[in-house]
Amino acid sequence: MTSTTDRIAEIERDALAALASAEDDASIEAWRTRVLGRSGELTGVLRGIGGLEAEERKAVGAEANRAKQVLEAALEARREAVRRAALASAEADALDVTLPGRPVGIGRLHPVTQVRRKILDVFERLGFQVIEGPEVELDEYNFGALRIPEHHPARDMWDTFWFDEEVDGKTPLLLRTHTSPMQIRHMQSHEPPIRVAVPGKCYRYEATDATHEWMLEQVELLAIDEGISMANLKGTLEEWARQMFGPGRKVMLRNSYFPFVEPGVEVAVDCFACPGDDPACSVCRGSGWLEMMGAGMVHPEIIEAAGYDPERYTGFAAGMGVERVAMVMLGVSDIRDFHANDPRFLAQF
Ligand code: DAH
Repeated sequence: MTSTTDRIAEIERDALAALASAEDDASIEAWRTRVLGRSGELTGVLRGIGGLEAEERKAVGAEANRAKQVLEAALEARREAVRRAALASAEADALDVTLPGRPVGIGRLHPVTQVRRKILDVFERLGFQVIEGPEVELDEYNFGALRIPEHHPARDMWDTFWFDEEVDGKTPLLLRTHTSPMQIRHMQSHEPPIRVAVPGKCYRYEATDATHEWMLEQVELLAIDEGISMANLKGTLEEWARQMFGPGRKVMLRNSYFPFVEPGVEVAVDCFACPGDDPACSVCRGSGWLEMMGAGMVHPEIIEAAGYDPERYTGFAAGMGVERVAMVMLGVSDIRDFHANDPRFLAQF
């Protein structure tokens, strides 16, 4: 008899100690199964009572029932304590709805996007249709059809990234260096009159510095019709410059060379930030002029290659760097800032 009541006392002591260290519902439940469950320790003792002498059975039975009640009460108390602790910690991390909210950052268009849209808005009002073309281009369109054959020194101006794949075993793929290939693609699939503006990303394999990036955006212009002259080119660009930079802007054409135009010109707009001779001017640095693009009259061989009669049709083309225009408009002195993804820079525009 003594040994059984000792055993009950031992079970009770150990169980109470174990219960005190059960910190959550799962370990409390595991404890309950182990101590009070159907094959639990105390249940085992109660089952064994049947085999005892009547008197001993009474004493052991009373002791076991007392222990069972103690443990059940302890179980309830422990459950309640754990529940309260969980509640208290939830309250501690709870949302304080009376705190003022954190300000939500409002997005904005990238400065290059803003400037590209403005450039295109003006050309659309001037009657140009906006179209786009592939960034992965055929050598033939990027160079050959623009009168820049292999080994021609003009290719040095446009080193680029090449792909291993070839199409029809002869024409390699590259990342286009300019949007001019769309002149050829569009002429091949359309008849004059043509007036298109082509925005798009271009790539060049070159060392970067404050005015050069290996990825840039351009907007190409192409107008083909009967009787188009250099005066139309200049008039169109002058009107564009006035709508972009303000009334009274002047456009200067300077002789230049691009294999796909004849004659070819560099186009500069007079400085809108100073009278034109201020050496401290951050926009023109005293030169009075801002280089914006290349342009010219579409080469008659290109008109002919498109299947148009070069005696009947003439046209002008131009290509401008969007980041270039953006630098001038926004007063940015390093082109690399545009794609460095620094929100402190981008948030200024
Ligand atoms: N594609 C030339 C470049 O990226 C720019 C250019 C020059 C475009 C003359 C033209 C043009 O359409 O007529 O350097």
